[in-house]
Amino acid sequence: MNEGDKFDKTITNYVEKVQQTVNYIKEKTSFTPEYGVILGFGLGSFTDDIKIEHILPYHEIPNFPVSTVQGHKGALVFGTIGDKKVVAMQGRFHFYEGYDMKEVTFPVRVMKYLGVEKLIVSNASGGVNVNYKVGDIVILKDQINLLPEHPLRGVNDERFGTRFVNMSEPFSKNMIAKAKELASRLSIEVKDGIYLGLQGPTFETLSEYRMVKILGADCVGMSTVPEVIVARHMNLETFGISVITDIGNEESIESITHAEVLEAAQKSEPLVRKLIKELILNY
Ligand code: HPA
Repeated sequence: MNEGDKFDKTITNYVEKVQQTVNYIKEKTSFTPEYGVILGFGLGSFTDDIKIEHILPYHEIPNFPVSTVQGHKGALVFGTIGDKKVVAMQGRFHFYEGYDMKEVTFPVRVMKYLGVEKLIVSNASGGVNVNYKVGDIVILKDQINLLPEHPLRGVNDERFGTRFVNMSEPFSKNMIAKAKELASRLSIEVKDGIYLGLQGPTFETLSEYRMVKILGADCVGMSTVPEVIVARHMNLETFGISVITDIGNEESIESITHAEVLEAAQKSEPLVRKLIKELILNY
């Protein structure tokens, strides 16, 4: 039996569900993380940098969705990086998997209630900026939400945050400045850019990549945007980083596959991992 099955399934109130999940986690570990890290596709080995205190597979955590995508592991990993306390999500939930936005963003709520103050979000994305190439590491400076459902739609629970959320700084300027400084010190080449979220699971047509560019974004993906919105709803300081795994233009569009995306993400993974680690240590 799944441990989660022991829990009261009649609870429908969202905040209470979050609290129930947090209570369960707190029974398993007394660890209070300051940093939350969402590990994107192909970027899961970051957990090797964590001195692990506790691992909780998603399927054991009450109210947690379970990841369905190949290559996405499903566990919350608690531990330290130097003297910083971290919880990492190994595997995230996507709207295209069939979850609604409340499910997609549930773990972000849980992280906040576990004590997280800063959230680092990573992903793989398709580049439309002409200066990007496969393997580039992009520090996100803004995002465009074109997903078809909003995670804050519905009655607003003030215990989480305010009804109308200010999105002038989805990604913390201070964290961006620190990450850029560290990247330069470590000779890690980074670019910056705007991420646009579409629902997937299809990769974009050539005309859709063009649209993404015309709309003012530099890269496009199927995640991140809802988690960042919910993080900002709860006033988490948020940092986003993306690996360009394919380029959405005439020359390269034919080759874009899931396998290519995974390979490209894994090639850049050591540097992304290093940068996130140093940011956590030095911010
Ligand atoms: N489009 C959408 N999502 C993606 C892409 C892309 O080209 N690459 C990686 N994730």
